[in-house]
Amino acid sequence: AKLRVRDALGVQDASGECVTVQGWIRSVRSQKEVLFLHVNDGSSLESLQVVADSSFDSRELAFGSSVQVQGQLVKSQSKRQNVELKAEKIEVVGTCEAKAFPIKYKERHPLEYLRQYPHLRCRTNALGSILRVRSEATAAIHSYFKDNGFMHIHTPVLTSNDCEGAGELFQVEPSSKIKVPEENFFDVPAFLTVSGQLHLEVMSGAFTQVFTFGPTFRAENSQSRRHLAEFYMVEAEVSFVESLQDLMQVMEGLFKATTEMVLSHCPEDVELCHQFIASGQKWGVDLQTEHEKYLVRHCGNIPVFVINYPSELKPFYMRENEDDPQNTVAAVDLLVPGVGELFGGSLREERYHVLEQRLARSGLTKAYQWYLDLRKFGSVPHGGFGMGFERYLQCILGVDNIKDVIPFPRFTHSCLL
Ligand code: 4AD
Ligand code: MG
Repeated sequence: AKLRVRDALGVQDASGECVTVQGWIRSVRSQKEVLFLHVNDGSSLESLQVVADSSFDSRELAFGSSVQVQGQLVKSQSKRQNVELKAEKIEVVGTCEAKAFPIKYKERHPLEYLRQYPHLRCRTNALGSILRVRSEATAAIHSYFKDNGFMHIHTPVLTSNDCEGAGELFQVEPSSKIKVPEENFFDVPAFLTVSGQLHLEVMSGAFTQVFTFGPTFRAENSQSRRHLAEFYMVEAEVSFVESLQDLMQVMEGLFKATTEMVLSHCPEDVELCHQFIASGQKWGVDLQTEHEKYLVRHCGNIPVFVINYPSELKPFYMRENEDDPQNTVAAVDLLVPGVGELFGGSLREERYHVLEQRLARSGLTKAYQWYLDLRKFGSVPHGGFGMGFERYLQCILGVDNIKDVIPFPRFTHSCLL
């Protein structure tokens, strides 16, 4: 039977069953009579030890080569692993040119070095663990929402709105080779989405509790270690919510449930990150980050909710606080150690006349007529939040630079592959 490495390693009381394993060679060690290979197929941090006798040609069996091994799964003599594969047949599927291969045997490459090779760095332990955690966390987020009565919504990637009003939009046009009858493909300017929030608000007006989890885009000219031009955002929107406390409970629940699930599903990967990657996290240098850092430190280096921001700093959709309508809105950010802002959320302005005035003040009345409309047809108090998924991974794994927790990072001057 064909077995993934993870499943082979999990076999209790192996007694010589015949199996086939496929993967890439992570190490080769030859002794007088025997050859030890470690084969990894990405299903776990740990590799499977393959034991071969000296009749196998060890020159072909080199670090980085892809192989298919057939043999008997047996109990290992060594204390380091439960089982090992006694090879009967080893087939080299693809050889690996050692000289040209940027990943070197037994070397622990710095993450900055590996960033030059987005097509190969996933073959290292470091990126292997980070990306496995990323995958587990994705599944955990979906199950948290499913377990708590949220419906998943595919919000559009192409949109004509600028939800955050910060003007950090990428505009989208057909390639110049394409003949479009009119000047403009969509008749209106179209952009890559900065947030699915406004579309989620539409849906929360029918399904009560909704979420989306997809790519968002911001043309931020920032070389920081916590900004990307393309990042994944987890966004939730809840109807009949009257206080920030209710929202904060969902934010906290999401963070805790996701982290618990990651810790129970891939403890070795998290451990590897903490042991070899976490860097006694540094901070950025801009003033805003400095403030966040101060707050988190001041509160004892734990996550901190900050609420009721000044209205002028925040987008048009946030709800004016009833006890201070001139000055503050019901906004909530969650700041976490090492990363700073992880969540941004708010109650939304559900009162028709208040929203109408706010839109008018920002000159947005025409563009957001549909949004105002929602306040006319069964409007309810509601609110939501967005969590930067890469920042979440940075936070739980202690990864200093955001470019190392996404498979293919996009940022200013860089769109490799
Ligand atoms: O605070 P932001 O801008 O909030 C929104 O977009 C709301 N519309 C979300 C909502 O209420 N549905 O972004 C949310 C989070 C931030 O707290 C941060 O973690 C992350 O998204 N984020 C980025 N992550 C990586 N690179 C960037 N350029 C980011 N910009 C924001
Ligand atoms: Mg924010």
